[in-house]
Amino acid sequence: MELASTVLDLANSEDAATIARLSRDEIERGLDWRWRPPAIRRLIASPEVAVLCARCRVVSSAKTVEFLGGFGVMEFGLDRAHLVLLAVEPGLRRRGLARRMLRWLEKSALAAGIAEIDLEVRADNTGARQFYLVEGFNRGEYLPGYYQGRLAAYRMNKKLGLT
Ligand SMILES: CC(C)(COP(=O)(O)OP(=O)(O)OC[C@H]1O[C@@H](n2cnc3c(N)ncnc32)[C@H](O)[C@@H]1OP(=O)(O)O)[C@@H](O)C(=O)NCCC(=O)NCCS
Repeated sequence: MELASTVLDLANSEDAATIARLSRDEIERGLDWRWRPPAIRRLIASPEVAVLCARCRVVSSAKTVEFLGGFGVMEFGLDRAHLVLLAVEPGLRRRGLARRMLRWLEKSALAAGIAEIDLEVRADNTGARQFYLVEGFNRGEYLPGYYQGRLAAYRMNKKLGLT
């Protein structure tokens, strides 16, 4: 896919269906679908949560197509932030989109006075675990049955401002 541009932008409620679909297909595969459109709309409306979208534009001789190519969700606490969800459409991977979204969310956390981010990632998701390691996260606790009692996870965390 030839990308003309990608702009990062906060989600609005019209993005909820696409985000929910991406979550179901790319993050929750093999599990019950938890992040359905109403749950995503609640995240978008929450003042403690940033739902970030990568709005992509593809130009061909015939037309310009705009679509949501990825998203990231971060929940801001008092002194730490939690990366809840992050995904990029399969055809758009390894172009730095997830890195751009993560850096945007990290900057927002730093601006809010937050010095640490944590997340859970499926133990069987070697690609995502490698992405987080490259992005400076440490591998933490192993959590058997973390996802719906069926799939294990690793907790990972990163101290901000150290790189
Ligand atoms: C994990 C994910 C978000 C990465 O998105 P991406 O846009 O492809 O990542 P980037 O292009 O920003 O990758 C930056 C670097 O991370 C590393 N990386 C990313 N994906 C990787 C993979 N599958 N295997 C190994 N390293 C990987 C690489 O070092 C990469 O740099 P490079 O391409 O120059 O080698 C994407 O694969 C995805 O959506 N997966 C399904 C959903 C998911 O697992 N989400 C995370 C858990 S919630």
